[in-house]
Amino acid sequence: MKVLALAASNSSTSINKQLAVYAAGLVPNAEVEVLDLNDFEMPIFSEDKEKELGQPELAQRFFQKLGDADVIVISYAEHNGSYSAAFKNVFDWTSRIDMKVYQGKPVIMLATSPGPGGASSVLAAATGSAPYFAAEVKGSLSIPSFYDNFDMEKGELKNEALAEKLKAIITEL
Ligand SMILES: Cc1cc2nc3c(=O)[nH]c(=O)nc-3n(C[C@H](O)[C@H](O)[C@H](O)COP(=O)(O)O)c2cc1C
Repeated sequence: MKVLALAASNSSTSINKQLAVYAAGLVPNAEVEVLDLNDFEMPIFSEDKEKELGQPELAQRFFQKLGDADVIVISYAEHNGSYSAAFKNVFDWTSRIDMKVYQGKPVIMLATSPGPGGASSVLAAATGSAPYFAAEVKGSLSIPSFYDNFDMEKGELKNEALAEKLKAIITEL
């Protein structure tokens, strides 16, 4: 099973990437590919830029990566209650190729932040809009207070209740 893990963040030290990689590793018999949003940096989307550039190759490649996966594990960074600009930009470009960005794939939607809110606002936006973008959401989970609940050295959730919730979601695949 090909599992694509990505963070909706362009931070080189992304905590959402750590979470997505951990979650993807829980999928039995998974062949995990980790995608880095920095490899898909494009000009800020506008309809003017679209007229100029058409469908950039990077957007096509991003769409292809999602399409090649059997399962997508994505963890959303929250910036001011919403998506990071980096993710929103890639998403906007990709949605112009096909609004069904997630292409009907099973998707596990996660989110985390250092604070107690656990990026739950952006996660709600992502899960709420999932049907419009053809994401078959198999489960979603916000991890609050990342540094309290995640063991950075082991690369795993140390909060057992949260780890159990995540494992229960994985079994839904
Ligand atoms: C511009 C900006 C806005 C932020 N806004 C929020 C926010 O609304 N809610 C939140 O929980 N954390 C917020 N944070 C903190 C992020 O959750 C934190 O930087 C986290 O590490 C982002 O995830 P990442 O490491 O995967 O990029 C913000 C950070 C930045 C730089």
